[in-house]
Amino acid sequence: MLLTLRVHGSRLRLSLSRQQQLRLASSVAESKKVTTAGVGQLEINGGTYATDSWTNVTPKILSYLGLNKHLQRDHPLSIIRQRIVNYFYGAYRNQRGNPLFSVYEQLNPVVTVQQNFDNLLIPPDHVSRQKSDCYYINQQHLLRAHTTAHQVELISGGLDNFLVVGEVYRRDEIDSTHFPVFHQADAVRLLTKDKLFERNPGLELFEETWSGAIADPKLILPSSKCMDQTKQPCHTLEAVKLMEHEMKHVLVGLTKELFGPRIKYRWVDTYFPFTQPSWELEIYFKDNWLEVLGCGIMRHEILQKAGVHQSIGYAFGVGLERLAMILFDIPDIRLFWSNDSGFLAQFSEQDLQNLPKFKPISHYPQCTNDLSFWLPPDVEVDAGFSPNDFYDLVRSVAGDVVEQISLVDKFKHPKTGKSSVCFRIVYRHMERTLTQAEVNEMHKQIGDASVESFNVQIR
Ligand code: DAH
Repeated sequence: MLLTLRVHGSRLRLSLSRQQQLRLASSVAESKKVTTAGVGQLEINGGTYATDSWTNVTPKILSYLGLNKHLQRDHPLSIIRQRIVNYFYGAYRNQRGNPLFSVYEQLNPVVTVQQNFDNLLIPPDHVSRQKSDCYYINQQHLLRAHTTAHQVELISGGLDNFLVVGEVYRRDEIDSTHFPVFHQADAVRLLTKDKLFERNPGLELFEETWSGAIADPKLILPSSKCMDQTKQPCHTLEAVKLMEHEMKHVLVGLTKELFGPRIKYRWVDTYFPFTQPSWELEIYFKDNWLEVLGCGIMRHEILQKAGVHQSIGYAFGVGLERLAMILFDIPDIRLFWSNDSGFLAQFSEQDLQNLPKFKPISHYPQCTNDLSFWLPPDVEVDAGFSPNDFYDLVRSVAGDVVEQISLVDKFKHPKTGKSSVCFRIVYRHMERTLTQAEVNEMHKQIGDASVESFNVQIR
């Protein structure tokens, strides 16, 4: 789930035509929080945005805004959120015994490219910025792809210990552990020299040889130079080591609090554009090492951008669905969106420490249908046609009844040069048995919508 690990190689996409975007924009009006302010405009959470060639949000995706599953009473995601927040409240207190961390759980998920990427030093050509990976409202705005997007605005506002919890949006494949909307918690802790070296007042945060100049954007090191797992050039080794120690201690504490004191874990070195050094924490669960969070020492350029020059910080980010699936034994990520009382009634906030295991409501059968089509002349998979565009179309037409989609075959005709693709779509309703007839009808609608949107020819 981590941003930097999702390097899919080169992906080319079939972008929506202007006409398709306008049609999309007008059908977006169905959703409560979203209205069409005029042709070529979207109104989302009170803001008006002009659509452009980057617009790829669908009405279906926009319908998730404001659902706030992480705040819904007794919802498993809300239970996980409260356990994380309570842990931080307990781990850090001020002299009066009050919690040090402030918590933001309802920040607007509409963010700028600057917030989501530039402020975090994510390079201009980074794969995670691609249109095929994010939900763009237009070239300047997108639905946040991670809660880290709020770091700089909160630090600029003067905060030095905070947690952000909310839903994030990513275009991705569809299976039992991926859903285009999921939840994250992100945290930042900043310390000044006086606090960090309380007991060693002679020590310094910054190297004596480091000029301390506000980073000239041209001087910001390219990502390839930020792989050094020891430290950033500006920091002293003692400052980094002490922060690392505190951060790892707190995060292992969180993991033990969630998964029990005997959980097996390990730290793995990694790379994030916004931290250096960076780590992932993995836990051993059901015979596998699973990554549960990403973290690191914040890049000093980010603090400088936010107007903070005399502190060092650590930050981490964690996916809530991943934790909840492990803790409650929930087998399918779509269940988090279920309103079925048979699901919701299994969880309660009454006793946050005593987590029940999920009991399957029932097993309904799957229906599998294949869909093959010829792409337009000169278009191929990853050369003008992105499977993610097709996945979004399927979701818009059939909704969450689609459990999985896989690209099972690609073929280029030797004579005509035309390319053909075959997708296997697995339908399964969470709450009842689907009839073959209704699946066939949905399948046909997907075929018709594909012809219309992608100019393909059904085989
Ligand atoms: N934003 C990262 C992701 O979505 C997770 C993350 C890693 C957040 C390191 C952080 C951090 O704040 O320091 O994959």
